[in-house]
Amino acid sequence: MIEFSSSARGMRSSEIRKLMKLAADPHIISFAGGMPNNDLFPTELIGEIWNRLDTASQQAAFQYCPTAGYPPFLETLKRYLERRGIPTEGNHLLITTGAQQAINLVARVLLDPGDDVVTEYPSFIGALAAFKSFGARLHGIELDREGIQIDRLSSYIDSLPAPPKFLYVSPYFHNPAGIIYSSQRKRELLHQVKERGMVMIEDDPYGELYFDEADKALTLPMKAEGGTETTICYVGSTAKIFGPGMRLGWLLAPPRIIEKCEQAKQSTDACTSTFTQVLAQNYLSGGYLPQYLTMLRETYRRRADIMHEALAATMPPEVSWTKPRGGFYIWVSLPENVDATKVFNESIVGGAAFVIGSAFDPEGRRNNCFRLAFSHTAEQKIAEGISIIAKAVKKILG
Ligand SMILES: Cc1ncc(COP(=O)(O)O)c(C=O)c1O
Repeated sequence: MIEFSSSARGMRSSEIRKLMKLAADPHIISFAGGMPNNDLFPTELIGEIWNRLDTASQQAAFQYCPTAGYPPFLETLKRYLERRGIPTEGNHLLITTGAQQAINLVARVLLDPGDDVVTEYPSFIGALAAFKSFGARLHGIELDREGIQIDRLSSYIDSLPAPPKFLYVSPYFHNPAGIIYSSQRKRELLHQVKERGMVMIEDDPYGELYFDEADKALTLPMKAEGGTETTICYVGSTAKIFGPGMRLGWLLAPPRIIEKCEQAKQSTDACTSTFTQVLAQNYLSGGYLPQYLTMLRETYRRRADIMHEALAATMPPEVSWTKPRGGFYIWVSLPENVDATKVFNESIVGGAAFVIGSAFDPEGRRNNCFRLAFSHTAEQKIAEGISIIAKAVKKILG
């Protein structure tokens, strides 16, 4: 007889997964997947980089490496982070199998069942699933266009019998909300974190994908601004740049937290693929990234503009959305009493898909919003897909 553990018994294939199966139909114009566009991956260059490597480096790529990471990649990554204005001293780095693993490891070493975790509403599905898998009680504080609402955050934390185990935020081109935090909001949040001595996971896979150079300063993480002593666990990834198939992420955090995460990782996957670390290290140290990022920023900005204009041309006046300044997403808000699942079902019949808002609600309740990703769908299909969704919205609004 097979008897699953209590945590496995708690795992459910969600409603959302069923909806996403519908979105995977090749006849559907899907804005559901939060992933880069396949045509943009630097496949040729990566091939050349591999072919130019000496035999010893190629052999190292096939070998295990230390759990913390392949040492030359760790060094290269440190320099990359420092160039982005993120000092690493006083903290340690752990290379992880995607940002998802970094988030999962922090949750695993900090959470006991029943612990409180505060997130944003809306929030990244993968993080919510990780926190739930460790039995956390989740509460989402609403975002406005500048970031998490500090007064609500503060009064919620004050109302808890004990401080939350940690706060999870993703301030730079948010998935799914599309926003970037203002400098003022970052300062206020940092103040809360420092004053309360609270652990915060600062998740930053999209920060490099700003559309306008003027916004670059806003992408400086709180990890950098807060000084080395803060209990911020800063998470990064190559997923939205080189592609999620590399499964390459990192965690920059205080040594005590990294030490525990490293122990937890040892029993999970021993180390992150040395193969992709070798490729990423040679790509970064070869100086190819800046030019590649310029191309990505231009491409995603153009796609975001096409989607924004299509929405403006087709959506009824009761519907609003965020105008993205970077990243992959537009977050659409319907009137409060409207159920996004109804719009989804109607829209699938017409031939277009997105992700409904309740997927991003830590409490799984609010469903009058939905997420559109402009990053993956063929550019010439964006306007057509949006007009199908707008038609569905109009039908449901009546
Ligand atoms: C906010 C956020 N964090 C983390 C991840 C996971 O990234 P990775 O593919 O590196 O695990 C994603 C991917 O969608 C994301 O949007």
